[in-house]
Amino acid sequence: MSDTPRHPFLHGLSKHRGAPPTVVVIFGASGDLTARKLIPAVYNLSHDNLLPADFHLVGYGRKAIPDGEFRSLAADAIKEFSRRELNGEVWERVAAHTTYVAGGYDERAAFDRLAQHIDGIEKKIGRDVQRLFYISTPPSVFAPIIMNLGASGLAAKHLGTPLHAKVIIEKPFGKDLTSARELNGTIRSVFEEHQVYRIDHYLGKETVQDLLVQRFANAIFEPLWNRNFIDSVQITVAEEVGVGSRGGYYEQSGCLRDMIQNHTMQLLALTAMEPPGSLDAEAIRDEKVKVLKAIQPLTIGPAGDVARAQYGAGMMSGKSVPGYLEEEGIQPQSNTETYAALRLSINNWRWQGVPFYLRSGKRMARRVSEIAINFRRPPGTLFAGETARFDLAANTLSFQIQPDEGLSLILNTKVPGLETRTQPVKMSFRYATTFGSNTAEAYERLVLDAMIGDGTLFIRGDEAEASWKLCTPVLDYWRSVGRTGMDTYAAGSWGPPSADALLAKQAHCWRQP
Ligand code: NDP
Ligand code: BG6
Repeated sequence: MSDTPRHPFLHGLSKHRGAPPTVVVIFGASGDLTARKLIPAVYNLSHDNLLPADFHLVGYGRKAIPDGEFRSLAADAIKEFSRRELNGEVWERVAAHTTYVAGGYDERAAFDRLAQHIDGIEKKIGRDVQRLFYISTPPSVFAPIIMNLGASGLAAKHLGTPLHAKVIIEKPFGKDLTSARELNGTIRSVFEEHQVYRIDHYLGKETVQDLLVQRFANAIFEPLWNRNFIDSVQITVAEEVGVGSRGGYYEQSGCLRDMIQNHTMQLLALTAMEPPGSLDAEAIRDEKVKVLKAIQPLTIGPAGDVARAQYGAGMMSGKSVPGYLEEEGIQPQSNTETYAALRLSINNWRWQGVPFYLRSGKRMARRVSEIAINFRRPPGTLFAGETARFDLAANTLSFQIQPDEGLSLILNTKVPGLETRTQPVKMSFRYATTFGSNTAEAYERLVLDAMIGDGTLFIRGDEAEASWKLCTPVLDYWRSVGRTGMDTYAAGSWGPPSADALLAKQAHCWRQP
């Protein structure tokens, strides 16, 4: 057998990846994300025998919750949200090592109690454990938690063994460039970068990882992946859901902060970056930062590179739904956008002159996330002129991130018959058909990666700042003009006219995926 170290990105959720003994502490353990994603992720990792032998889960929050009650809340969360049904034996393996510590996020003494609690776990099992702190609280308490982890000694880099303390930080990572820089400053005053895992759960999605494999494990794409062959790129993250019960959060955020600055910009970075020298986390993140920094600053204002809108009332799945301004917790004159679209230009050798169109919105016609690469049209000499017979489409390669994960390519084909007619057809590969549909959830992958110390699918501090640098002037402008220029779109539609106008300037139009 080879002694070559197995690269974590290549080997993924393999049983050969041993995470060291670990205690995962979740701050905000009574919250929505913990119930919907984190507890089910831990349960499914246990189901797949991917948790280390000495694995302990500690919930932390302001409410006093007895250990037994926390365990039963966790079991309920698995029943409701896990991709697999609760199996008593599997859950018991985790539940037996699940406890809860009550305390404030800015209460120094409570962090000392947490430290004693973890010391107690180490004494009981007779060995040191890695400490993985998952901050799953509202962002207002990210900084106090980080400072208290430092002050109490819980953030210590070396724990007497090669084990490190690590911290996972949920989104949003700041609300603009200044606050992201401040948060990075706070983090760096306590942790070293290799201890820090900033979450963007889109990076944990199977199909997003497949983008790297498709680009760099297939020789046919790279020669075409540039301005000579690609006409434009469209990245869509469309949701059917409205703002629901999250009005309080969403009013402070809006689509640009909630989706564009992070998820769609990450998809852009992976699509447009240069091939990294290796699959090492730093090599990939270096390339992502380079391409984010090469994006030209946006032209903002009327007829600029950005459109924003709010959904109005409309029909979704045959039911009428209210507009954003009628939703619970929303100001009647709110200027928070539920849809945003951007036209970006990347100023480098590969992409000069190729527009990248990004859009995301709530209450759109269909839930779909995709990256569509539109190739240049062939010279029209052979099949031009007789449009009735020759229905020619540009070739489009689309990566469908979700749902119905897969890849498709639009090609022009001869319609069978005695005369030559053409028609675009779609060649498709679907994950579910080829591999079955029970793939791991993004949070399973990400929690395990953080445990084993692989930061490839997390955001580095400079990446977050590069993306905020691009988005912050847009937010500043929108704040300064109030509702001026705010477009609307009917719930259940594909977005506002102002977003169509962004593309029309270059004779493009949005795909209907
Ligand atoms: P919650 O609003 O459910 O809050 C999580 C916990 O934090 C609460 O149970 C509460 O615990 C504590 N908390 C709530 N409000 C405050 C406050 N004002 N000050 C201090 N503590 C508070 O959040 P979510 O679980 O929905 O989200 C957690 C993090 O994950 C956020 O940063 C969010 O942006 C991010 N996220 C959430 C997603 C989701 O689907 N929910 C999706 C993607 C990211 P206690 O009272 O016990 O201390
Ligand atoms: C979160 C946003 O980051 O992503 C939500 O805060 C959004 O508003 C969600 O609904 C979408 O994630 P997914 O995985 O369902 O596409």
